[in-house]
Amino acid sequence: MKSKIILITGATGGIGKETARALARQGHTVVIHGRNKVKTQQVCEEIKSETGNIKVDMLLADLLLLSDVKYMADEFKKKYDRLDVLINNAGAMMNKNRETTKEGLEKTIVVNLLAPFLLTELLLDVLAKSPSARIINVSSEMHKRGGKPDFKDFQLENSYSCARAYGLAKLYLIWISRHLITEIKEKGLGHVTVNFVHPATTNTNFGLDSDKGFLANLIFRVVMPFSLTPEQGAETSIYLATSDEVEKVTGQYYGTKKKLAKVDDKYYSAENEKIVWDYCKQITGPYLDIKVLATDGNLTITEGIL
Ligand SMILES: NC(=O)c1ccc[n+]([C@@H]2O[C@H](COP(=O)([O-])OP(=O)(O)OC[C@H]3O[C@@H](n4cnc5c(N)ncnc54)[C@H](OP(=O)(O)O)[C@@H]3O)[C@@H](O)[C@H]2O)c1
Repeated sequence: MKSKIILITGATGGIGKETARALARQGHTVVIHGRNKVKTQQVCEEIKSETGNIKVDMLLADLLLLSDVKYMADEFKKKYDRLDVLINNAGAMMNKNRETTKEGLEKTIVVNLLAPFLLTELLLDVLAKSPSARIINVSSEMHKRGGKPDFKDFQLENSYSCARAYGLAKLYLIWISRHLITEIKEKGLGHVTVNFVHPATTNTNFGLDSDKGFLANLIFRVVMPFSLTPEQGAETSIYLATSDEVEKVTGQYYGTKKKLAKVDDKYYSAENEKIVWDYCKQITGPYLDIKVLATDGNLTITEGIL
């Protein structure tokens, strides 16, 4: 297997960290994305010393901020002129009450949908330079639990619950992954594949640092210890990232143990897919055209039309 350049978001813990560890062990260049500098450095050092692979690098961005996503993509391109595998792994379930970011967007929709959408768009040119590129979007079986989409209320101002927001964001992530395949083909980039996965319930930090309400908090704490280990949760992402078996496979939904799974297409139509795609494009559009010169989480200095 040829050495690949692999970028994994949310690789400082849980499934992302185990994905990074396994891919570093295979000898690839692994770029670990995190939001906390000290934690990300520690994870890099841990993986380097454990695997003996010194090609473990890091990038920082708070994925709640689209300006940070833009900055991260620019930083990646300063160091690398090619990307072989992008794993949009980072994700989160938020608090029981709706919250917005400094950029005015609902947090769940940003971190689980808009951030991976924007990062992928911004990195498509370097993915195109790979002889055989792969995009892996980490979704969830919770895509079946978000309820009926309301395209007049993408920001969930009228019907927010943390489970609905998360479920819809993960459903839309599947739809935009499908749409991306069409876009990629139209751009003549047939060598870039897009697949999406659900890791099943895995014993990580997922959902433990938000207040989802008494009962939901309790369920998370009770169920997590009996679920998959992070290594098991990472198995399918690792497989999709590097296995020759899936080199040409695109548009598929995988579950645990590298097995194909079934998307709930109750609300799916090509038209709805396009509505979600256009929404993501509209919201992230300004960040595709600007240059973020610096960001410290509070202040973003930009050139362009933001
Ligand atoms: N665990 C499950 O049962 C389960 C089931 C289905 C799907 N999933 C999906 O699997 C993926 C990985 O989840 P996990 O279980 O490994 O969860 P986790 O242990 O909570 O790890 C999530 C990762 O995402 C990062 N992250 C979260 N919010 C971020 C933000 N605003 N900016 C930058 N990074 C951020 C975290 O960074 P920090 O280390 O700084 O917190 C961490 O590295 C997610 O997409 C999740 O939705 C998980």
